[in-house]
Amino acid sequence: MNLNSQTFSSIRKPKNFNNPERFIEGWYWVIPSQNLRVGEVKPVTILGRELVIYRGKDKRVVTYDAYCPHMGAHLAEGKVEGNALRCFFHRWKFDAEGMCIDIPCLDTPPSLKLQTWPTAEKYGMIWVWTGEIPQQPLPFVPEFEQKECDVAIHSAFMMNCHPNVVMINAIDAQHLNAVHKLPLEIIFQRQELNDNAIIFNNTTPFKEENCFLLKLIRLFYKNAITYSVCYWYGSIGIVTLGPDFFHVHTMFAVRLHEGGKTEGQILLITKKRKGIFGWLSNRIVLWLTKIAGKFFLMGDIKIVQTIKFDLKTPIKADQSIMQFINHVEKQQSLMWGTWQEGRSRDVESKPKRERWQDTMSND
Ligand code: FES
Ligand SMILES: [Fe+2]
Repeated sequence: MNLNSQTFSSIRKPKNFNNPERFIEGWYWVIPSQNLRVGEVKPVTILGRELVIYRGKDKRVVTYDAYCPHMGAHLAEGKVEGNALRCFFHRWKFDAEGMCIDIPCLDTPPSLKLQTWPTAEKYGMIWVWTGEIPQQPLPFVPEFEQKECDVAIHSAFMMNCHPNVVMINAIDAQHLNAVHKLPLEIIFQRQELNDNAIIFNNTTPFKEENCFLLKLIRLFYKNAITYSVCYWYGSIGIVTLGPDFFHVHTMFAVRLHEGGKTEGQILLITKKRKGIFGWLSNRIVLWLTKIAGKFFLMGDIKIVQTIKFDLKTPIKADQSIMQFINHVEKQQSLMWGTWQEGRSRDVESKPKRERWQDTMSND
């Protein structure tokens, strides 16, 4: 087989993938749940949009756009009252749905609603859906879809390349051998979980070789070596690996930062085990997961800090990366900063600004 027959024709310029101005509509991590106590309100900026989050008396987390619709005070200066938030400046009060429910100098507040964003908690994190109505469930580890989990929030990080580029590292089969010195060939098979989630499962078993270590490891794998990566919204990658009887799961949750960079959070996840022994064994499992995670990051750091991604010459071994790019291209993208729908790369709609008129004020 000559080289040409193994190369793919080059892909046309993707509109979503590796675009520093776009991200896929979906669930994105905000901050760890434990960093927002009942009655607390905080400013957060994610995907270029300034937001405010608070936890009401009912423990529910609410997310609004950051600035008060009256005169633009930052609502994080305000105060949580029951399940509502009161602006610091003129003390207008908004409920968990964003409705204005009190203006101290008026008997009845006008019908006014703040922009709110669907918010939920899972795996020890607060997550926000970047559209009006969530179209998909919160990202989950496929093996634990309905199960309760134990999670360790490992670390937050910044990287110099686009989140999509960070994500494909886990399915870049060539680099597993070249960078991580994996002594096996990994060949993935893809499986679409839904419109926004895709799984890549390794299909290759251990080869019979005269290596003692490989023979020993093979005892723990009946079929293919467990190595799978589940992606959500092109921005969350869950890596599962281990022998048949014991899997570890690491979630790399990333989001697009200013200038096409990546800010991310690593979560170590295992299923909940009961009792004190269950708790103790989970500490060990999560510690082992952390060691496995380090294996993945070693050597990759310098690549993702310096790469200028441009897949000019894809070959057969890059097939999974191409499939990931196609998967990202099919999804609904939004513009960084405005969260408005992405259109073509050249014709971006600029938000129309109303001209201020005297008639806009009532007095
Ligand atoms: S700016 Fe918030 S109440 Fe006036
Ligand atoms: Fe890697």
